[in-house]
Amino acid sequence: MKPWITAAVSALAIAMPAVAEAPAIDFAKAARPSSGAIVLPVGKDGALHGISKDADKAAKGAIAEAIATAGFKGDAGQTLTLYGAGPYAAVLLVGTGEGLANANDLKVYGAMAAKGTSKWNAAVNVVVPDAKDVADDAAIAALGARLGTYNFGKWGKAAEESGEPKAALTFLAPDAAAARRAWEGDASAIADGVYFARDLISTPSNIKSPAWFADQVVAKFEGVNNVTVTVLDETEIEALGMGALYGTGQGSVRPPRLVAVEYKGGKAGDAPIAFVGKGITFDTGGISIKPSSNMWRMRMDMSGAAASAGAVLTLAERDAKVNAVAILALAENMPDGNAIRPGDVLTSMSGKTIEIMSTDAEGRLVLADALWWAQETYKPKLAVTIATLTGSVGGALGPDYAGLFTKDDALAETFIKAGETSGEPLWRLPLHPNTFKALRSDVADLKNGGEGAPGASVGAAFIMEWVKEETPFVHLDIAAMAWQNSGTAVDPKGAVGYGVRLFDEISRGYEAK
Ligand code: BES
Ligand code: ZN
Ligand code: MN
Repeated sequence: MKPWITAAVSALAIAMPAVAEAPAIDFAKAARPSSGAIVLPVGKDGALHGISKDADKAAKGAIAEAIATAGFKGDAGQTLTLYGAGPYAAVLLVGTGEGLANANDLKVYGAMAAKGTSKWNAAVNVVVPDAKDVADDAAIAALGARLGTYNFGKWGKAAEESGEPKAALTFLAPDAAAARRAWEGDASAIADGVYFARDLISTPSNIKSPAWFADQVVAKFEGVNNVTVTVLDETEIEALGMGALYGTGQGSVRPPRLVAVEYKGGKAGDAPIAFVGKGITFDTGGISIKPSSNMWRMRMDMSGAAASAGAVLTLAERDAKVNAVAILALAENMPDGNAIRPGDVLTSMSGKTIEIMSTDAEGRLVLADALWWAQETYKPKLAVTIATLTGSVGGALGPDYAGLFTKDDALAETFIKAGETSGEPLWRLPLHPNTFKALRSDVADLKNGGEGAPGASVGAAFIMEWVKEETPFVHLDIAAMAWQNSGTAVDPKGAVGYGVRLFDEISRGYEAK
């Protein structure tokens, strides 16, 4: 008997929520705005430079006076709002501290500008400060504005208030046409990739089944140039011998999927880079069931898959000269009469057998098959697994860095640099030989847990057992980065879409020049 019954979809199932539109973004030539609503940068100790200084002159010193009166220090990210200063109906002052050092500072500036003006009933002109070593300042500030104003929406009564349109933002740039090109051709593609990932991650798991996730990806990429989406259903997954992916999903009435999103923007025949994402649409732990507190958050256990799909959307939208493929290992981890048990032995697609120590260590199972399939199918020149894999990584690194694992020092360097540039920081964690030893099983090739060894490293080491000799490989554990508990300027509370910006940056290094 086939284990899958058709999941009942009630007529009472919720629809997608009402979502407030992100503020419209435009660009204009940098000059002192003559009136209206404006955003101005303010330096350390309230210093006014350039257009900010000119605006203060036009306001007959009212802005400088307000800064002094309020004791506004102009620290990075600090804001002060004034109404009716000279010819300006409203002025938002955004601190830049010692000056903006890089693109990430600019994103924060743009996010603060957007958030600080979102309630205004007016079009807003945003004066953009110069950031060192950034070419397209205004487009990057706009990216920060878009990222920082993400809003998934709400159901029920709360939906009414989230439907309001926000003030349109015009970013002022020395060359408005160039800024618009940088936004439309590049920065907005990053925002779109992150938004797609955040939407998938935010969606509750009564909507988000593996099949639903696959459908969203198919729909999103319909008509996108140079992209092919392949969806393998449970029958094909079984026929390919993916016992680890299949077994993980078999406790759910909603069967697993394996999705490949292939983008060909590089040379024909050039090996792609592969982003292999964990896509557990809900992780109860299975028979090794999780405690109930915070289990709700496990709807985000598909964040690696979401980031992989989002990154390929970004690459396709900005016409990146690179070949890349996202592989999404989608399953729901549920306890049930048909679920796998601790002590069971599964056979993966590679032929390696796995003794199940905990059905809650399911991410490594689905990734083992997805990674093997990725290598067999695409022979990638770089394979990256990205997963909300272990609670342990948060214990080690907090919500400040994702864990990076690789045997390749040069790749570690490349990824850490890319993380600094993209604003998605990484810290390399160890892969001691003892960690691999801890995975030895008495009855199978491997077991899916290793006592006494560090948890995040055990997960990484397990996955590495499915990496072929010739495949350059990196594993990222994003368990503590995928969901913002409080929110930052650029990443509001909730789904982060961690990995999209990093993968975009990594891909730049592989692009044909
Ligand atoms: N999805 C969880 C990891 C996780 C924890 C993600 C907290 C985000 C926040 C993963 O499947 C899991 O359950 N890992 C276990 C591994 C253990 C059973 C070896 C863990 O971290 O406890
Ligand atoms: Zn999980
Ligand atoms: Mn788990």
